Amino acid sequence: MNFAERMSRLGTETAFEVLAKAKALEAKGKEIIHLEIGEPDFDTPVNIREAAKKALDEGWTHYGPANGLPELRKAIAEEVSKTRGIPVDPDEVVVTPGAKPIMFFTILALVNEGDEVIYPNPGFPIYESVINFVNAKAVPIPLREENEFRFDINEFKSLVTEKTRMVIINSPQNPTGGVLTKEDLVEIANTVKNKNIMVLSDEVYIRILYEGEHHSIASLDGMKEKTIILDGFSKTYSMTGWRLGYGVMPKDLAAHVTKLMVNSNSCTCSFSQRAGIEALKGPQEESYKMVEQFHKRRDVIVDGLNKIKGFKCLKPKGAFYVFPNIKETGKSSKELESILLNEAGVAALSGTSFGKFGDGYLRFSYANSIENIEKALERIDNVVSKF
Ligand SMILES: Cc1ncc(COP(=O)(O)O)c(C=O)c1O
Repeated sequence: MNFAERMSRLGTETAFEVLAKAKALEAKGKEIIHLEIGEPDFDTPVNIREAAKKALDEGWTHYGPANGLPELRKAIAEEVSKTRGIPVDPDEVVVTPGAKPIMFFTILALVNEGDEVIYPNPGFPIYESVINFVNAKAVPIPLREENEFRFDINEFKSLVTEKTRMVIINSPQNPTGGVLTKEDLVEIANTVKNKNIMVLSDEVYIRILYEGEHHSIASLDGMKEKTIILDGFSKTYSMTGWRLGYGVMPKDLAAHVTKLMVNSNSCTCSFSQRAGIEALKGPQEESYKMVEQFHKRRDVIVDGLNKIKGFKCLKPKGAFYVFPNIKETGKSSKELESILLNEAGVAALSGTSFGKFGDGYLRFSYANSIENIEKALERIDNVVSKF
């Protein structure tokens, strides 16, 4: 079979590959502690599940509008308006099956072949994959440990050219847990403001923030019209499998993204959307309790990793990942990923799964119980202390 040439440019998410290897070991009887997958381990809050059941019984089982149910778009507009302090019209909202399609659709809609897109590296691997897919130039902005995995603003400015069409930011960040400061955002905004450059602001970890408050670049003067806010329900409400996310963007772009929805999914699952309305409008305690749990786990995993020979781990301010420096173990990230899986029974990801600037690091997701995190730390220590 001959595959289209573009398929050779499409990347993937290695988290799913490591998960498959871990499952294969489990099938052979090995016990694995899963710290590789980026999804909350909590159940979806009961009120949201009940809303979905009710929606099924009420017949929300048919096609709906391609850009999302009006009532959900209104609820999202209100939520984004409240959390970012900007006016949002429901017609600026497009609901998609998970937030991921917003990356795909906005890049397809805005970026031509040969254009340049600046994206964080290490970063969520799908950015680079889709940029390459549309035959644009992927321009990484390295996120360095010495800069708390934030942008080096001077370096960022030096990467902007006449061909730059989009800048992708993600705060709190996957895989480092890094958070951009308001000053960082102001500098980024000032750099792109008078240019033909859009900002894709991935804010899916907005609520999982342990210090300070969230700042969205869209809230800065003159930036709303230049920003696509990407957000969703997967992380905030532990709803990864429901496939429910959205983008907030200027109306003319929303019309193009809606057309891409018509051409691909038709619409997002109707009863998931009904549950999404309850998620936004119902009680929020369960979601905040998850954040409290993540906070405790973060402290346990950071302290534990810093006691392991050759590991050095910053304390991230957000998301549910840590990104320790493992250079002094003498192993490469890939080697250590494999050793930890096969010898310690701990599934983690090589930093290089998130781009070349992730070399020398591992990513652990602490979406697991404190008991399992402590067990994993002990196992890692046992294996690594023998190097
Ligand atoms: C940074 C980031 N953005 C977006 C997503 C996509 O989330 P979803 O498509 O489940 O809404 C993820 C999921 O891991 C993520 O880490």
